[in-house]
Amino acid sequence: MRENVMPVSVAYAYMHAGAEHISQICDIENLSFTEPWSYDSIEREFTDSLARYFVAIFHVDDADHTGPDKINGSARVDAWRVAGYCGYWSIAGEAHITNIAVHPEHRGRGVGAGLINAMLNDIASQKHMSATLEVRVDNDAAIRLYERFGFERAGKRKNYYDHGKKDALIMWKMLI
Ligand SMILES: CC(C)(COP(=O)(O)OP(=O)(O)OC[C@H]1O[C@@H](n2cnc3c(N)ncnc32)[C@H](O)[C@@H]1OP(=O)(O)O)[C@@H](O)C(=O)NCCC(=O)NCCS
Repeated sequence: MRENVMPVSVAYAYMHAGAEHISQICDIENLSFTEPWSYDSIEREFTDSLARYFVAIFHVDDADHTGPDKINGSARVDAWRVAGYCGYWSIAGEAHITNIAVHPEHRGRGVGAGLINAMLNDIASQKHMSATLEVRVDNDAAIRLYERFGFERAGKRKNYYDHGKKDALIMWKMLI
C-alpha cells in the first residue's frame, strides 16, 4: 500500500455515514487493525438505532487518483471516496466511542482530528453527559489525538487486545 502520496490540497468533508460507505469503511478497517471488524459486524452497526457513524470523504479529482476508480472509460464510477470513519454507541446518556480509523494514505493530515470534532459535536448535540473509549496502551497516535480533544486517562483493562497480549487504556471526557 502506498503511504502519503495524496496531494496536500485534498479537501475533506465530514458527514453521517450511510450504507453506501460500508465497503470502503471495511477496507480501511482491514488496513488499520490486526483484529478488524468483519463486513457483517460493520453492516450490523448501521441497523443499530443506538449507533452513530461518521465519515471523512474527499473528491477523487482532488486526489488525482490514477487507480481504476477514477474514470472507467468515459463514465465516472464513484467521484467521492472515504478517507476515514468513526462512530459511537449512545448508552444511557454516555457516548461509547467504538472506533476511529483513517486510511494510511490520508493519515497525518488532520482527518482523525476532523472526525473526532464532528463526532464530539454530534455527541454534545445529543445531550450526552460524557464520552468514553478504549485504546491500546501503545497506540501513541490515537492517545495523543484523544488527549488533544480533552479525553483523560481513567484506568486500564488488562489483556484486552491482540488475543490477550495487550492492555487497553480507558479514557473519559466529561461534557457537562
Ligand atoms: C489514530 C488515527 C485515527 C489518527 O488519524 P490521523 O488522521 O492521522 O490524525 P490527525 O492527522 O488528525 O492527527 C491528530 C493528532 O493525532 C496525533 N497523531 C497523529 N499521528 C501521529 C503519530 N504518527 N504519532 C503520534 N501522534 C500522532 C497528534 O497528536 C496529532 O496532532 P498534531 O498534528 O497536532 O501533532 C490514525 O493514525 C489511524 O487510523 N490509526 C489506525 C487505527 C487506530 O489505531 N485507531 C484508534 C483505535 S482506538
